[in-house]
Amino acid sequence: AAQRRCSPKSGRCNETIRKHEAKVVDMIDVEDIAEKAAFCRCWKTKNWPYCDGSHGEHNKQTGDNVGPVVVKKK
Ligand code: FES
Repeated sequence: AAQRRCSPKSGRCNETIRKHEAKVVDMIDVEDIAEKAAFCRCWKTKNWPYCDGSHGEHNKQTGDNVGPVVVKKK
């Protein structure tokens, strides 16, 4: 897989996801979450808005420490 990093030149976090939109907002109904869902906070996932583990490679390449927010039902 191609290595992707935040661009130090542009300063953008989001390099790929729905860039034609002024602001990327996602609405998820809590009823649609089965048991738990992991939402991406690193902007590197290929399954937005869900975490696909891409934060691991990003952290390894950059020394960052980002990870998902996990929403779970009780
Ligand atoms: Fe972005 Fe996991 S892929 S937080």
